[in-house]
Amino acid sequence: MTLNNLKPRLPDIIIRENWPLFPLSTLGTGGKAEFFAQPETVPQLQEIVRAAENTPVYVLGGGSNILIPDGVIHGLVISTRNLSSISWLDDRTAEIGAGFSLPVLVKTLREKNIGGLEFSAGIPGTLGGAIMGNAGAGGRGVCEFAESLNAVDAQGNLVALGRDDFSYGYRNCTLSGVIIASVVMSWNGDSWDEAKYSEFMAKRKNQPIGMRSAGCTFKNPEGHSAGKLLDDCGCKGLRIGGAFVSDVHANFILNGGNATSSDIIELADLCAKRVCESTGITLEPEIKTLSPCFSVK
Ligand code: EPU
Repeated sequence: MTLNNLKPRLPDIIIRENWPLFPLSTLGTGGKAEFFAQPETVPQLQEIVRAAENTPVYVLGGGSNILIPDGVIHGLVISTRNLSSISWLDDRTAEIGAGFSLPVLVKTLREKNIGGLEFSAGIPGTLGGAIMGNAGAGGRGVCEFAESLNAVDAQGNLVALGRDDFSYGYRNCTLSGVIIASVVMSWNGDSWDEAKYSEFMAKRKNQPIGMRSAGCTFKNPEGHSAGKLLDDCGCKGLRIGGAFVSDVHANFILNGGNATSSDIIELADLCAKRVCESTGITLEPEIKTLSPCFSVK
């Protein structure tokens, strides 16, 4: 089966060809997907994966922590945004679709007086993406509250994964080779802590709000702040093409309007080089590059 046969095999699902991906990333850069699909249901997601055998499959969530390469992405890009249901299993446990918005989840928990995700204040994106990168702040991450997951494997099977099937750390999660369909999230008895939430919200004031970015470019190396290292090395204001380093927070690379993903990569490399040359510290990227979820079967 090749992608040429994909559309006839999926008569009820809209499959786009040569679909521009830049509107699906908060950075607003990147090329086109050879094929693109946005399933409305988990069975549709399974069908799409089954039909796409022998082709690379890429997954996009909220697009807020991802760099989409320029040019043509050969294969099939699947957006999980429309898998956005939420169903409460009890007072403090819900099964939530991968495409559910993290900011909406935080708002819902705040309204329900359920504590735990205060540290997620101001973090954009979908729950699926947040789990894949263990999004968080202040040493905390959303994976802490994931009790189990339903995911689609490379054969299109729906698999149930428990807490022992994956581990996570600072901005990383070991899940790979599957597409998250939904997550069972569970919170203990803590009430919502408005003071803690406001504290995390206040930290956002030191970040460029309303600009096109993918959040922090680099992870904080142990014992250091990437933002401070980059600032001390004079990176603020550096520019390549349409990309520039924020003068509010040096760990944010912004798209000034006409940046390409290559501009962003070159600028990130330049910044990392400066820090390495002056401190000996190698910065690790925090932003992920869109790459296949399944290798060719
Ligand atoms: N700093 C500078 N110059 C800068 C930026 C920061 O001197 O240009 C200094 C600050 O003054 C502060 C220290 O560096 O003393 C740390 O900065 P900040 O408080 O802004 O926090 P951060 O470590 O840079 C982390 C997360 C953010 C999260 C904030 C707030 C990482 C890589 N970054 O930033 O997460 O929003 O804490 O909780 O872990 C993201 O993941 O995309 C992200 C933005």
